[in-house]
Amino acid sequence: MAESPLTIVRTVAEMRRHVADWHRAGQRVALVPTMGALHEGHLSLVRAGQARAQRVIATIFVNPTQFGPSEDFTAYPRGEGADAAKLAQVGADLLFAPGVAEMYPKGFATTIHVAGLTDGLCAPFRPGHFDGVATVVSKLLSQAQADIALFGEKDYQQLQVIKRMARDLDLPVEIVGVPTVRDADGVALSSRNAYLSAEERRIVPALPRLLREIAARLARNEAAPRDEVARGRAVLLNAGFTSVDYVDVTDAESLKPLDRIEGPARVLAAAWLGKTRLIDNMPVGV
Ligand code: PAF
Repeated sequence: MAESPLTIVRTVAEMRRHVADWHRAGQRVALVPTMGALHEGHLSLVRAGQARAQRVIATIFVNPTQFGPSEDFTAYPRGEGADAAKLAQVGADLLFAPGVAEMYPKGFATTIHVAGLTDGLCAPFRPGHFDGVATVVSKLLSQAQADIALFGEKDYQQLQVIKRMARDLDLPVEIVGVPTVRDADGVALSSRNAYLSAEERRIVPALPRLLREIAARLARNEAAPRDEVARGRAVLLNAGFTSVDYVDVTDAESLKPLDRIEGPARVLAAAWLGKTRLIDNMPVGV
C-alpha cells in the first residue's frame, strides 16, 4: 500500500502554520495526542479522526510531568522512526514531535489541576499524574487549535479529566473518546504491555475477563457493586497478579464510587504484574 507523505514538525509555530492553511481551505482538523510507542489502539484514534475531519495531526511527546519520581519515564518505550512509519501508513497528515524545551521553556510555572475527578482511582497511586496530563493536554490543545481531539477510553479517568478540563476552560475543541482496542484474548492494547514477560502476558486476560463479568452481573442486578469490588480483588490475586491498586465501580462521568447502579456506570481496575502496572475498564450495561 502506498504511504501518504507525513510531515514532521517540532515547533508550535510550524504546526500552527499548517493548521491555519487547512482552516483557510475550510478543512476540519483532528488532534491525536500520544506518547509514542504506537500500536493499533493509537492508529484507531487516527482513523476515528479521519472519519470526523479532513486532516489529522498526531503528537508524540513523552511528557515528563506526568511521571512520578519512581515511575518509568526513562524506560518508557521510544522509537520515532517506527512510529512515523505507522502514522504515514495510516495516512496521518502531520506529526508534531516537540522536545522538552519547546513544551516547557525555561521559567514554565503553570499547572492545571482538575479537582474531584482526580481524587480516586489511579490518582492516589500516581500523585501529580493527572496534573501533568491536564497541563500538557491543555497546552497541546491550545497549540494545535484543532477542531476535535481524540483519546482512548482505555485511560478512562484521563478521558474524563480532559473532558472536564476542556469544558471548564471553554476550550473551543470537541473531546472524543474512542473505544479500547483489544487483542483476541480481550487484553487492552497498551504501550506498557511491551514490559510483560511471556508468563506475565498469560495472566493478563484475567483482568478484562473479570471486568466483563462484573459489568454483566451488575447490569443483570445480580450483585452489589461493593461486593463485586471485594470479590474482584481476590479474583485478580488468585489469577496471579502481584498486587491490586483498586477495583471500583463508579458513575461513568463523575467517577464517584457507586453503591447502586442507577445510571451509566463503569467498572475499572488497576493491578500489578511484577513491575508492570496495568489498567482497564468496561461500561456497565452497554
Ligand atoms: O494517554 C497518553 O498517551 C498521554 O497521557 C497523553 C494524553 C498523550 C498526555 O501526555
